[in-house]
Amino acid sequence: MVPRAALLLQYSMYLRILRQLLITLQALSLLPLALAPGVRMDTLLDKLHQDHVNISRLLDILEEQVQRYGKGETPDYPLIVDILRYMEDYPDTVHHPREDMMFARMREHGVDMEMETILRDLEEQHRDLREKSLNFLEALRGDLSAIAVPREAIERHGIAYLEAHRSHVDMEESRVFPAAKRMLDEKDWIALDRSVSEREDPLFGAVVTRVYQSLYEHLVERFEKAH
Ligand SMILES: [Fe+2]
Ligand SMILES: [Fe+2]
Repeated sequence: MVPRAALLLQYSMYLRILRQLLITLQALSLLPLALAPGVRMDTLLDKLHQDHVNISRLLDILEEQVQRYGKGETPDYPLIVDILRYMEDYPDTVHHPREDMMFARMREHGVDMEMETILRDLEEQHRDLREKSLNFLEALRGDLSAIAVPREAIERHGIAYLEAHRSHVDMEESRVFPAAKRMLDEKDWIALDRSVSEREDPLFGAVVTRVYQSLYEHLVERFEKAH
């Protein structure tokens, strides 16, 4: 039997797909706005925010696993590796480049020195986060092979990654996204939507890629326990 939480997740995905279809039809002038009232354009900012919600869920799971190192317990290695693989596959490869394009668009409107410094730091962190996750993954792989990696070193890499990623997301949500919302207009969002990668999220999107099936099931299980 399909679990209730899985059905709920699928239901919300279908709603998103239907809404996106209506938006596409509107954009192609095949459906007048009046025929789909209340359907608002899902801007890049909405998508980026949803990515942050999803990323934060995964960071919480990762934190629980990192804490196991501190407590001397055995962590769930495949779960950690799946999360880090996803971080490289989607946030590093799709989410961050999309943000970089939004930052560039903000600059075209003119940003003050303070915002420029924030944007530059965030761009640097996009590269740095990938490096931190690779360091963490490398330490984990070493632990799984014959190489003896001290537990403290793995824990340290894990904490460094968690802290860096969380503070990065916080800065974007608290400073940059509100500024983007103020500065960019409908035309900017449409242009951005056209220029960024269209790649769907392989875990939280409409179709779960096979490699993320067990991570998806883990998320469904957690969702069920929480509700
Ligand atoms: Fe970012
Ligand atoms: Fe982000």
